[in-house]
Amino acid sequence: MNTYKAFEVREEPEKKFQGSIVEKSRMEPEEGSLVIEVCYSSVNYKDALSASGSKAVTREYPHVPGIDAAGKVLTSSDPNFEAGDEVIVTGYDLGMNTAGGFAQQICVPATWVAKLPSGLSLRDSMVLGTAGLTAGLCVDKLLKSGVTPERGKVLVTGATGGVGIIACALLSMLGFDVVASTGKLSESERLKALGVAEVVSREALSEENPRPLLKESYAAAVDVAGGTTLVNVIKSLSYGGSVAACGLVDSPAMNATVLPFILRGVNLLGIDSVELPLSKKQEIWSLFAGEWSLTAIDSLAETIVLAELPSVLKKVLAGGAVGRYVLDLRA
Ligand SMILES: NC(=O)c1ccc[n+]([C@@H]2O[C@H](COP(=O)([O-])OP(=O)(O)OC[C@H]3O[C@@H](n4cnc5c(N)ncnc54)[C@H](OP(=O)(O)O)[C@@H]3O)[C@@H](O)[C@H]2O)c1
Repeated sequence: MNTYKAFEVREEPEKKFQGSIVEKSRMEPEEGSLVIEVCYSSVNYKDALSASGSKAVTREYPHVPGIDAAGKVLTSSDPNFEAGDEVIVTGYDLGMNTAGGFAQQICVPATWVAKLPSGLSLRDSMVLGTAGLTAGLCVDKLLKSGVTPERGKVLVTGATGGVGIIACALLSMLGFDVVASTGKLSESERLKALGVAEVVSREALSEENPRPLLKESYAAAVDVAGGTTLVNVIKSLSYGGSVAACGLVDSPAMNATVLPFILRGVNLLGIDSVELPLSKKQEIWSLFAGEWSLTAIDSLAETIVLAELPSVLKKVLAGGAVGRYVLDLRA
């Protein structure tokens, strides 16, 4: 291919941001980098921010968003990779200030590129994408903190979103009693089909409560919300419990006391899927290819094409998306 298609976002007058499909010339690799033919990408909350002009994510436009990409190496200037290798790229600067995966080609440093483990298809790696990697990192840290199914229920907030739905599926598969918190109670049956034991309304956790401690309800939690939701989750952990905090869809701010930490010994575990070493990303991909292989993976995502991105990005930004969107770039 001497040219390839990309979804490029431009800044229009009055700070409006508009995305359209454009044709670009084939890339050449720079020293230490690879050109990858992208077969699949996926849509994450950060992509919706980038596509809507969030300067906290993307400083300059025109820009091609897409923090995830899976595909085949076209040309390599790194001896660890050769043409045809199947690879996954997530995070680092991809789709932020480096042209991202909403395109049929990317050019990235070899140090960002994970090899697709056998047992995982390129498409399934993007059903997971950054959301799945993040859910996997949350579960990995919770397991390492000593959480077991015998210790009690595990809460997942934002349960119908990308991180939330994969966390629900994975924890249920690992034998945990999962309580899903959602703003979309209409999706309860879908969550229960993934093995979730109980579905609760998002509102129960989103209101400020002056009490420093709440009833000990959960042995562990995966939280995508931050803000008041995370504070209420911390107050509701049982003695020695842990919460993996990865998101801020409620708020980045927290108004909390130290009492749950010093009276119940609970743990707040921070999760970053972007800058963590490639070897850790590779380890989580290998788990998803093996013992964490999700039986329900086909039901977690809808496949879309480039022309559908504007409407899907809008839905994700509004918090209205359910599950994952895989972008098929092979056409
Ligand atoms: N730390 C990391 O490395 C990392 C990696 C990936 C994502 N993240 C962050 O994690 C969060 C979730 O990402 P995602 O890709 O899963 O996004 P997503 O697919 O858009 O899902 C977010 C979900 O959060 C719920 N939600 C929306 N507004 C909420 C509110 N005000 N309070 C509580 N819940 C709300 C909704 O689910 P319900 O309707 O079911 O409640 C929504 O579907 C984002 O903040 C993202 O930036 C962080």
